[in-house]
Amino acid sequence: METSLPIPKVPRLYSFTRSFRFVHHPLDVLGQYVDNYGPTFQWYIAGMQKCILSTDPGFIQHVLQKNHRNYNKSPLQSEKLAHFLGQNLLTSNGSYWLRQRRLIQPGFHKQRLAGLFNIMQKVIDESLEELDRELEKSSEIDIFPQMMDMAFRIVARSLFSTNLAEAELQQLKYSITMLQEFLIRTIRQPYLAPWFKISGKQRFHEKINAKTDEVILNIIHRRQKSSKQPDDLLQMLLDARYEDTGEGMTDRQLISESAVLFTAGHETSANALTWTWYLLAQHPKAIQQLRAEISEVCGDAPVTFADLPQLPYCRQIIEESMRLYPPAWITDRTAIANDEYQGISIPAGTMIVPYIYGAHHDPAYWENPEAFQPERFAPEKRKQQVPFSYLPFGGGPRLCIGNNFAMMEMQLIIATMIRRYKLELVKDYPVEVEALVTLRPRYGVKLKMKKM
Ligand code: HEM
Repeated sequence: METSLPIPKVPRLYSFTRSFRFVHHPLDVLGQYVDNYGPTFQWYIAGMQKCILSTDPGFIQHVLQKNHRNYNKSPLQSEKLAHFLGQNLLTSNGSYWLRQRRLIQPGFHKQRLAGLFNIMQKVIDESLEELDRELEKSSEIDIFPQMMDMAFRIVARSLFSTNLAEAELQQLKYSITMLQEFLIRTIRQPYLAPWFKISGKQRFHEKINAKTDEVILNIIHRRQKSSKQPDDLLQMLLDARYEDTGEGMTDRQLISESAVLFTAGHETSANALTWTWYLLAQHPKAIQQLRAEISEVCGDAPVTFADLPQLPYCRQIIEESMRLYPPAWITDRTAIANDEYQGISIPAGTMIVPYIYGAHHDPAYWENPEAFQPERFAPEKRKQQVPFSYLPFGGGPRLCIGNNFAMMEMQLIIATMIRRYKLELVKDYPVEVEALVTLRPRYGVKLKMKKM
């Protein structure tokens, strides 16, 4: 029997007919639903999976923080994603997740991040030398693949530092990209599952996944045999000991946690950086203010770890960019037991979709929501923001474990590059949002760049 919820409902048939447009233009479809049905409504993903979607910060906070114990990651993450990635921080629930989180969290504390700063700086310098060579060939460049490559290398080196050969890095990049693309198709078009099996696509991707695991396991084994113990994330994972048993993680766990740091940690940052360049290229005054801030703090010297907190405007620019273009634009949970939020009944098993993009663009919480205004994130303004109206890194106990890592990486990249290059948008190049696992530019972002 259908449980009735006292909230607006998008009819199932309408959800199904809109699902074809939803595959390629989810933001349009969801934006229309929000306009027509309000901030919280019932809807069917692909016309099949019933869920409650909400842009209401109070509702989102209830699910992610206040009553988080009643909400697990939905089967999309805990089963579909886990099928490839295994059980790890991102895909697990309950006591297993808590144990992993407690074990791994210290590796992301600020003082540990200081150790990764030099690795990041080296990767950025190498990548920019490569970019300079590209720019000698043509001053017009798509900045998205550049940011993807830089962010991938940063995560790869932060994890495996010297133990990673270039061929392995390329293999991991290829596999992770392929697997992500396949996964999104299995989620968006679940009715294609039989076809994926018959056509061999499922098996093909299983093989890619096995190869990824093999590459990571080889790296782990090389490290275990090595006398050198670099200050990187793999060493942190290897050294971590469970409080209760005093034991470390198994190889299977190490593979799975490494793989998830790659997956969660590169495309998100690359998107945020690309959108930040897109916005900056249209706001020369913001560039001017940013350059002035950096030169006041750093002079002509390279940016250091200690400089980052002294660059608040740089941070505000990134925060505003992630408000307009949140890389993780949506997430999901499933209710374990019956629950209620302000008269809305939430039966056990209901899938909840906190719609992050919708919250970030809601005129009820953001004046002139489509405008780029980094000043919104000035400390005194930030205090006035409604909790959970801004959540690029999620919220509650499952807040992104890599948020400080990502902010450090992004600030360093933006501050380094904005002093090195003049930039403007290539005229008439189409820039369009594509909402896949992350919010990316469908055709990239073409910039005209010149070394200063
Ligand atoms: C701009 C960059 C990033 C954004 C916008 C972002 C966003 C998010 C969001 C929204 C969540 C919560 C998802 C949910 O509650 O359902 C999350 C979780 C997670 N992120 Fe990030 N992330 C970023 C960078 C990173 C980096 C650099 C790493 C690692 C190196 C990372 C690792 C993770 C992991 C492991 C989780 C799962 C945490 C848990 O459930 O305990 N992320 N991220």
